[in-house]
Amino acid sequence: MRDRLTAALPTTISANVPGSEPSDRQGLGIDTFLADGFSLRDQLAAFLNLNAADLEQRLPGSTDELAALHPGAFDPEQAGRFYEETVGDGHLLELAAWHLGSRDYIADTLRLQQHVAKGQLLDFGGGIGTHALAAAALPSVDHVWFVDLNPHNRAFVSWRAEQLGLAGKLSTSRDLHHPDLPQRFDTIVCLDVLEHLSDPAGQLERFADRLEPTGIALLNWYFFQGFQGEYPFHFDDPALVEAFFRTLQQRFLEVFHPWLITARTYRPMAAI
Ligand SMILES: C[S@@+](CC[C@H](N)C(=O)[O-])C[C@H]1O[C@@H](n2cnc3c(N)ncnc32)[C@H](O)[C@@H]1O
Repeated sequence: MRDRLTAALPTTISANVPGSEPSDRQGLGIDTFLADGFSLRDQLAAFLNLNAADLEQRLPGSTDELAALHPGAFDPEQAGRFYEETVGDGHLLELAAWHLGSRDYIADTLRLQQHVAKGQLLDFGGGIGTHALAAAALPSVDHVWFVDLNPHNRAFVSWRAEQLGLAGKLSTSRDLHHPDLPQRFDTIVCLDVLEHLSDPAGQLERFADRLEPTGIALLNWYFFQGFQGEYPFHFDDPALVEAFFRTLQQRFLEVFHPWLITARTYRPMAAI
């Protein structure tokens, strides 16, 4: 059933380029992501000034390298500094290795995003920009607001948007306080980020406050440090996780979708 539904989805998404009909000229369809991650290898090599062989050598060890940067025991106060200052461009490599290596999973999240994305879209903790760029190419999306603490990630995603002809539809900022950001969003995307935050319940509150009554939030989380401790930067404190689920149930109502069981969609509870 799931395969049949997935196969029925359009496999290309279109960019709304001024002066042209919507087309897939940016090549940001699901097929293109599956083929090359939206030119991810080439773009990453050029951005990091690496040759192709050096890039291939660095990608496989990037998760371990990122984990090694983590100080170990968690100090919640330091979580933001870790992403903003410590990881440098290490997260670009780690996220690229993940998106290229788990491309079927990421493609499913893109299919789901394609299903719900509209209007003013916030991609919070957007990483290397796979979802932000794909969303910016959708005619149903007016503008993508990419927010990420890591300045290397922001610079890479701005540059990717320019390369792909999407700079006019994508803006980057460090946090939600930037004055250019809309007060409310039609779509909030926050994938694989909530477990990195010292107060994920508080973040849900901020999302609920900034989501249009008709809006949709696309969220997932993984409050687990891994069976081999490979994700030391994930928060897993039971009290933190309980506060998260209490807030989720108070502020949001889940909207069923058939694409994935790990990523969920929500309407704001106030609208019900
Ligand atoms: C695991 S990555 C996920 C990236 C992307 N959403 C994806 O699915 O590939 C987590 C991202 O959250 C960002 N991040 C962590 N804490 C943040 C915060 N407080 N505000 C904004 N971004 C944050 C990190 O810099 C990183 O890019």
